[in-house]
Amino acid sequence: MTSKRKKVTTRTLRKMKVEQSPITMLTAYDYPSAKLADQAGAEMILVGDSLGMVVLGYDSTVPVTLDDMVHHTKAVARGSKHSFICSDLPFLTAHLGREDVLRAAGRLVQEAGAHAVKMEGGIEIIEGIRACIQAGIPVVGHLGLTPQSVHQLGGYRIQGRDLASAREIVANAKLLEEAGICALVLECVPAEVAQEVSATIDVPTIGIGAGRHCDGQVLVYHDLLQYGSDIHPSFVKTYADLGEQAVKGMKQFIEEVRAGVFPGPEHSSHLSEEVVEGLYGAKKEGSAPCTS
Ligand code: KIV
Repeated sequence: MTSKRKKVTTRTLRKMKVEQSPITMLTAYDYPSAKLADQAGAEMILVGDSLGMVVLGYDSTVPVTLDDMVHHTKAVARGSKHSFICSDLPFLTAHLGREDVLRAAGRLVQEAGAHAVKMEGGIEIIEGIRACIQAGIPVVGHLGLTPQSVHQLGGYRIQGRDLASAREIVANAKLLEEAGICALVLECVPAEVAQEVSATIDVPTIGIGAGRHCDGQVLVYHDLLQYGSDIHPSFVKTYADLGEQAVKGMKQFIEEVRAGVFPGPEHSSHLSEEVVEGLYGAKKEGSAPCTS
């Protein structure tokens, strides 16, 4: 018996936390990746600004622009039917003041088709978060390692290792909950910190490099599938090797073209004898009627 899948909403996510049913989030950046992630059954699709690194080839997420996010979110929205789509507000946007944040978040929701926006940070961006939520735009928070601050953090390192910074993460999580966020990404924090945050707030937590006690887990598409990704963080588990398959397939294509094997008869179409005669003035040896 097939059960009809419903669209995932903020209510679904909250219910899943209450029922302790693990939430899955995958990043996707274009029509095919969104289609596949949706088809696989991920409740949430994140159009992460990690696209700067895994799709556009930058060495951080900092260069990603709002136009980039809009462009990619549009493609994801076309590819996904059921998943809850969350799109990243790019570098600095959340700090620019109410109006600018609203304008940017508004584009991602209204023009691109996101259901929510994700913002990196805690108290320092709380006004922007409140502005979006008051305007009816769901916000996903992001604490711990916030990659847009990579230069300030001195690299991609685990956050919240000492008591003061662990407490700061918990305090920020409570603040974001009070502001009304619909989910919270916890990136690269010790498992105990993620466990404490997940137990303290009613908002679903989605971990990446944050241990098993979160309410859900997220991985980056290109890492999970080994699809041209250059970085291999220790917290990533590889579930398939699309890169290897892709190179294998492309090498075979190249070899077959060079060897005259591709295209074969089944990949070619032909003229009818009448047209061949009209074209050459006489029947050509080996010509076949058009079959495709
Ligand atoms: O941009 C992104 O993909 C993210 C995830 C790593 C959570 O923020």
